[in-house]
Amino acid sequence: MAHEARDFSYLLGKLEGISDKLLEAHFGLYKGYVARLNLMEEELQKTDKGHTNYSWGHWSELKRREAVAFNGAYLHELYFENLTPKGEPSPELVQDINDSFGNHDEFLKDLKSTGLCTIGWVVVTKSRADGKLHTYLLTEHHVGLPVLQDIILVLDSFEHAFAMDYGTDRGGYIDAFVKNIDWEVVNRRFSAL
Ligand SMILES: [Fe+2]
Repeated sequence: MAHEARDFSYLLGKLEGISDKLLEAHFGLYKGYVARLNLMEEELQKTDKGHTNYSWGHWSELKRREAVAFNGAYLHELYFENLTPKGEPSPELVQDINDSFGNHDEFLKDLKSTGLCTIGWVVVTKSRADGKLHTYLLTEHHVGLPVLQDIILVLDSFEHAFAMDYGTDRGGYIDAFVKNIDWEVVNRRFSAL
């Protein structure tokens, strides 16, 4: 079944410190990833799997990039979904944040620092390995996410997510991102685990 880009235009005019012009450009990029994911899956279906190997092969190359297209589409979906300033962390989430990071301020400091040391994504996860919350950075869509992680919050820290509004001030953008977190969405992801 083909993947479909979701309509996040309801975010326009709703965010603090992230312009509509930037958001609209970002939606276009997200739609491009969804289109490429569909193309990727179609191409994989019709490409000969025979004679593949580690060195070279059309199917092999597609297979190596499959997660780029998939994560490029769905990390953006998770990111847009957790935007819109709304709510606050649930008592259960607050407890987990405190257990994992010490307190909310330390959690935000960790989130920002992680965002400053990647050129790509930050994901906040609950780990099925130790039951704690973690921040992980992905330098490419498909590189850097450890196994056994359930994602509850996504920060897009690629330059395209902020340069139009913030120039090179990635930290200023991350501060704005934090103000725009939809905690109701994060609480829902968290409580579903
Ligand atoms: Fe992005």
